[in-house]
Amino acid sequence: MASAPRPATFGGIPQILDVLKEQGYIADRALATSVHLSIVLNKPLLIEGEAGVGKTEVAKVMARALGTDLIRLQCYEGLDVHTALYEWNYQRQMLRIKLEEASLRPVEDKEHVIFSEPFLLKRPLLQAITAERAPVLLIDEVDRADEEFEAFLLEVLSDFQVSIPEIGTITARQIPYVVLTSNRTRELSDALRRRCLYLWIDYPSFEKELRIVHSKVPAINDRLAEQICAFMQLVRTVPLSKVPGIAETLDWSAALLALHREHLDAQAVEETLGCLCKDQEDLVRVRAQYLAPIVDAVRTAGPATDGWNPERIASLAAQLPKPR
Ligand SMILES: Nc1ncnc2c1ncn2[C@@H]1O[C@H](COP(=O)(O)OP(=O)(O)OP(=O)(O)O)[C@@H](O)[C@H]1O
Ligand SMILES: [Mg+2]
Repeated sequence: MASAPRPATFGGIPQILDVLKEQGYIADRALATSVHLSIVLNKPLLIEGEAGVGKTEVAKVMARALGTDLIRLQCYEGLDVHTALYEWNYQRQMLRIKLEEASLRPVEDKEHVIFSEPFLLKRPLLQAITAERAPVLLIDEVDRADEEFEAFLLEVLSDFQVSIPEIGTITARQIPYVVLTSNRTRELSDALRRRCLYLWIDYPSFEKELRIVHSKVPAINDRLAEQICAFMQLVRTVPLSKVPGIAETLDWSAALLALHREHLDAQAVEETLGCLCKDQEDLVRVRAQYLAPIVDAVRTAGPATDGWNPERIASLAAQLPKPR
C-alpha cells in the first residue's frame, strides 16, 4: 500500500511564525523556514544545538500547531530495534494459547492468530507508521543511540515501511513529520545527515530570550525580565561546564517571581543560583568570581531601550574578571 499524501498544512513562513508564536514558541525566520521546508519537501528535520535551547520543543509545538499526535522516541545507549519498533505481547499470546488448549484447530491456525496485529505491542516507530493521520515523530537525542541503531533508523526513514516476518510489510498510511534532535555527544553519520534538513539552534539573542520570558512567564515585570536576560547573556560568556540554556532562564524567572523579586540584586541571585548553575564547580565559580560583577554590569547598564546588542554584551563581557 503506497503512502497517502499528507493534508495541506500551515501555508508560508509568516504563517508558521504566527502559528508557532500562538503555541508559545518564539521562532526566527531561519527556524520557520526549516519547519516549512521539512513539511513541504517531506524530509526529516535534524535539529542540533546546546542543551536547553528549544530543540525538543519544536516538535511539540509542531504537533500542537498541526493538530496531530506527537509520538516520541527517546533515544539512549543500548536502545534496540524492539523497544523502538514492536514487541510481541507474550502475556496475551500465552493467555490465548491456554484458552485454545482444548480446541481442535490446526496448530498453524493457532500460530497465525497469536502472531497477528492484535498481539503486537506497537512501539513509537510502528505507532508512527500505522497512525491514521500523519503524526509528528520526535526522535529525541538520537546521538545517544548506538551507531547500529542509527543505521536501522536510516532504513525506516527512507521507506517508512517495516517488515515483520510473521505479518509482512507494513507501509506508512501517511508519512509522519519527523524531527530528530541531537546534543552532539557523538557525530552522527553522513548518511543520516544527508537524509535530513539541518537546523542549528544557538543560544538566543537578548531580544529573543526576552520575548520567550514574556511569553512563558507573563506575570514578570519588564525591568526584571530585562535584567534576567542581560544576566544570562553575560553569564554565558564565562567558562562554565554546563552553560545555562533557555530552560534555566525560564526556571529562574519563575523562581524570582515566586520570591516576589522586582529587580536583580546580588542577594536575589545568590539565593536562586541553583536555578542557573546545575554543576557544583560552576556554582562555586560563579558565586566567587562572576556574580557580583555581572549583577553590577546589569544594574548600571540601564534598560534595554539603550540596546542590549551583541557589541554591548561583548564589551561588558570583556570587563568581567578573567578566569583563574
Ligand atoms: N524559542 C522558544 N520559545 C519558547 N520557549 C522556548 C523556546 N526555546 C526554548 N523554550 C523553552 O525552553 C525549555 C527548554 O526547551 P527544550 O526542552 O526544547 O530544549 P532542548 O534543546 O531540547 O534541551 P535538551 O538538549 O536539554 O533536551 C522548554 O521549557 C521550552 O518551552
Ligand atoms: Mg531536548
